[in-house]
Amino acid sequence: MKICTNIKPYLLFSLVIVSLFSLSRTSLLDSTYNNFLQCLLKNQTSPTDISNILYSNQNTSYNSTLNSNIRNLRFTYPTTPKPLLIVTPYNPSQVSESIICARKLSHLVKIRSGGHDYDGLSYISDDPFIILDMQNLRGIKVDPTTATAYVEAGATLGELYYMIQNVSNTLGFPAGVCPTVGVGGHVSGGGYGNLIRKYGLTVDHVVDATIVDFQGRILNRSSMGEDLFWAIRGGGGASFAVVVSYTVNLVPVPETVTVFNVQRFLTDNATDLVYKWQFLIKDIDHNLFMRLLLQL
Ligand SMILES: Cc1cc2nc3c(=O)[nH]c(=O)nc-3n(C[C@H](O)[C@H](O)[C@H](O)COP(=O)(O)OP(=O)(O)OC[C@H]3O[C@@H](n4cnc5c(N)ncnc54)[C@H](O)[C@@H]3O)c2cc1C
Ligand SMILES: *[C@@H]1O[C@H](CO)[C@@H](O)[C@H](O)[C@H]1NC(C)=O
Ligand SMILES: *[C@@H]1O[C@H](CO)[C@@H](O)[C@H](O)[C@H]1NC(C)=O
Ligand SMILES: *[C@@H]1O[C@H](CO)[C@@H](O)[C@H](O)[C@H]1NC(C)=O
Ligand SMILES: *[C@@H]1O[C@H](CO)[C@@H](O)[C@H](O)[C@H]1NC(C)=O
Ligand SMILES: *[C@@H]1O[C@H](CO)[C@@H](O)[C@H](O)[C@H]1NC(C)=O
Ligand SMILES: *[C@@H]1O[C@H](CO)[C@@H](O)[C@H](O)[C@H]1NC(C)=O
Repeated sequence: MKICTNIKPYLLFSLVIVSLFSLSRTSLLDSTYNNFLQCLLKNQTSPTDISNILYSNQNTSYNSTLNSNIRNLRFTYPTTPKPLLIVTPYNPSQVSESIICARKLSHLVKIRSGGHDYDGLSYISDDPFIILDMQNLRGIKVDPTTATAYVEAGATLGELYYMIQNVSNTLGFPAGVCPTVGVGGHVSGGGYGNLIRKYGLTVDHVVDATIVDFQGRILNRSSMGEDLFWAIRGGGGASFAVVVSYTVNLVPVPETVTVFNVQRFLTDNATDLVYKWQFLIKDIDHNLFMRLLLQL
C-alpha cells in the first residue's frame, strides 16, 4: 500500500504505456500463431493433434523447446533473435503442411535437426523467422540382414550408433565423432569421422532419402531425381529441401577395436613428430585411423 501511494503520476503514466505495448505485442503473436494454426488445420492429414506441434512465445514450453537444441550457449541470450513460431512435426505430412503454410504466410523457415551449426544458422536469423524443428522425427530402423539403416533427420549420431550396436557387433556407420550431432545437418553436409580412412565420407554410404521440397512435395530418391539426390549429400543443409530421413548402407567392423592415445609436448619435439606424420600417413594401413589434435 505504501508503495502504491508513493508512485508518482509520471511513473503511473509510463506503466500504462508499457502494458499497452505488451498487449499489442501479444495479440500480434496470437494472430501469427492463429493464422499458421488455421492453415495447418485446413488439410490435416495426420492423427496427431496439430496444435501439439505449434509453439509461440505465449506457450510455457516455448523457451525449453527453443533451447533444447541450442548447443552454443552464446546463442541463448535474451538478445539472440527468437523465432515467431516453432513447429515440431511428427511425420512427413506435417513437414509438408508446415512448408506449404510457411510459404503461404511468407515466413522465413530455419530447419533444425541436432542444432550443432557453428553459427546457429538453424535457429537464428536477423529477419523474422520460424523454426521447423525435427526433434520429433528421430525414428531409426536397423536391418542387420541387409546391413542397412533408415534414420530420421532429428536423430543424433549417437542414437544411430547405439541402435546399430544393439543389433550387431560387426556393423558400423562411418560418420562424425561427436554423438550429439544431428543426422539432418551432418549428412546433408558430407560427414566424416573415425572411419574415414577405411570407408570415406558419410554421404558415400547414403542410398535413399525422403525429403520435402519447397512446394511441400514428399519425394524419395527416384521421384526427386539423381541431381537433387546428389545435392543433399554434401551440398549443405537447408539449401535444397527439408531432409526427413536417410537410408544408409552399414559397413563391416571388427568386434574388437583397439584405441590408443599418444601425447607429446612441444618440449618433446612434437613438431618433428607432426612433420614426419604428414609424410608417412599415406602409406600406413587403412585399418589404422590417426587423428592429430593440437591442444593448449
Ligand atoms: C561439437 C561438434 C562436433 C562436430 N564433429 C564433427 C565430426 O566429427 N565430423 C563432421 O563431419 N562434422 C562434425 N561437426 C560439424 C557438424 O557435422 C555440422 O555442424 C552439422 O551441420 C550439424 O548438424 P545438426 O543437425 O546437428 O545441426 P543443425 O544446427 O540442426 O543444422 C545445421 C545446418 O543444416 C541445416 N539442416 C538441419 N537439419 C536439416 C534437415 N533435416 N534438412 C535440411 N537441412 C537441415 C540447418 O538449417 C543448418 O543450416 C561437429 C560440430 C560440433 C558443434
Ligand atoms: C500452445 O498454446 C496453445 C494455446 O494455449 C495451445 O492450444 C497449444 O496446444 C500449445 N502448444 C503446445 C505445443 O503445447
Ligand atoms: C523465456 O525467455 C525469455 C528471454 O529470452 C524471458 O523473457 C521469458 O520470461 C521466458 N519465458 C518463460 C516462460 O520462462
Ligand atoms: C491442402 O490440400 C490441397 C489439395 O491437395 C493442396 O493444394 C494444398 O496445398 C494443401 N494445403 C496445405 C496447407 O497442406
Ligand atoms: C535393443 O535390442 C533389444 C533386443 O533385441 C530390444 O528388446 C530393445 O528394445 C532394443 N533397444 C532399443 C532402444 O530399441
Ligand atoms: C519412391 O516413390 C515412388 C513414387 O511415390 C514410389 O513408387 C517408389 O516405390 C518409392 N521408392 C522407394 C524405394 O520407396
Ligand atoms: C629434440 O631434437 C633435438 C635436435 O634434433 C635433439 O637434440 C633433442 O635431444 C630432442 N629432444 C627430445 C626430447 O627428443
